[in-house]
Amino acid sequence: MIKMNPHFAMLTSSYLFSRIAEKVNEHLKQNPDADIIKLGIGDVTRSLPEVSVKAMKRAADELGTEKAFRGYGPEQGYDFLRKAIAEHDYRGLDIEPDEIFISDGAKCDTGNFLDILAHDISVAVPDPVYPVYVDTNVMAGRATGYHHGRYEGLRYLEGTPDNDFIPTPPSDRVDLIYLCFPNNPTGAVATRDQLQVWVDYALGAGALILFDAAYERFISDRNIPRSIFEIKGAKECAVEFRSFSKTAGFTGTRCAFTVVPKVIRAADDHGKRHSLHALWNRRQSTKFNGVSYPVQRAAEAIYSPEGKREVDERISYYMRNARLIRDAVQRHGYNCWGGRNSPYVWIETGTDSWSFFDRLLYEASVVITPGVGFGRMGEGFIRISAFNSHENVEHALRRIEKAL
Ligand code: MLT
Repeated sequence: MIKMNPHFAMLTSSYLFSRIAEKVNEHLKQNPDADIIKLGIGDVTRSLPEVSVKAMKRAADELGTEKAFRGYGPEQGYDFLRKAIAEHDYRGLDIEPDEIFISDGAKCDTGNFLDILAHDISVAVPDPVYPVYVDTNVMAGRATGYHHGRYEGLRYLEGTPDNDFIPTPPSDRVDLIYLCFPNNPTGAVATRDQLQVWVDYALGAGALILFDAAYERFISDRNIPRSIFEIKGAKECAVEFRSFSKTAGFTGTRCAFTVVPKVIRAADDHGKRHSLHALWNRRQSTKFNGVSYPVQRAAEAIYSPEGKREVDERISYYMRNARLIRDAVQRHGYNCWGGRNSPYVWIETGTDSWSFFDRLLYEASVVITPGVGFGRMGEGFIRISAFNSHENVEHALRRIEKAL
């Protein structure tokens, strides 16, 4: 019989959002008429921007002609999109188009990036944490056990109300650090000074920061950095992940990118230095064939003036929901975080978070995400996502208020 990867046996249960979907489906089986409103997984509900749809159609038409047909594209992404990203998202930050790798998702990239790092590195993740960072390290064999909601072998950086869910560097050395701002799940945003502390730590420790900026477009506060590369020294120690998913409605369409600065080096067993950019390029060109041409054209279109306007309109739409959610839970006397520069509102319920999830599912037909699904420090919290229509959010909030 074929033998399985033993590290998968170490994984606890199903992936958080799969477990939630199972619970919702089970509830629907018992109550087929339940009118469920989903404020759980951060999946967008607004359509693709019109400019993207038009660009995608034009690109599909091109592919239907002998003259303009394209086969395999560059594994790293087409130049037109890499250039648009460098010019618009990284203007003044000294990021070259060829430091940008187009992909089918930030979730995939954060997991895939582990391919190019040594097995025996030490890894620090925040807690609460986007579960992908943890689970992919477990799959890669970095966990030696599981106790009380934590894997032995990983370092957890605790986020609490006392530090506003922005952990500080550990006192000892770690090799790899995951940071996510605006944070999923807490919605916390880090200031320039707070990120500078992390960059200085990484430079001092020779560590690498994997910076997940999938939600940067939701930042409205001008003092909050949108990219780790706004921080002095970050180009020598950080890789940044971004996505068109939440920004422009690409959760199903799939397009994202990862910025790997050319100056970063990784050492082999003999201390010889290798370019991280070259390693990632080697990985991508071997295991990935790029994102489809029509999708990359659709992503490029959001950098046009009309595309920017359409994206801004969608972001404001979701952020109005976030405000409604914040106001409603605060009216009920709950402490909450996020929802200002982020589409997630993190709420302290003080009770077992799966029971709270069940209560809202069974009594209000509303799906939220239990905080403990993001780690031990999430117990006693829930996350409500702003991705839905105004009508559904208002409706859900009325139902939640009744159920509380
Ligand atoms: C979330 O709800 O945390 C996100 O939608 C998950 C993801 O982006 O993969």
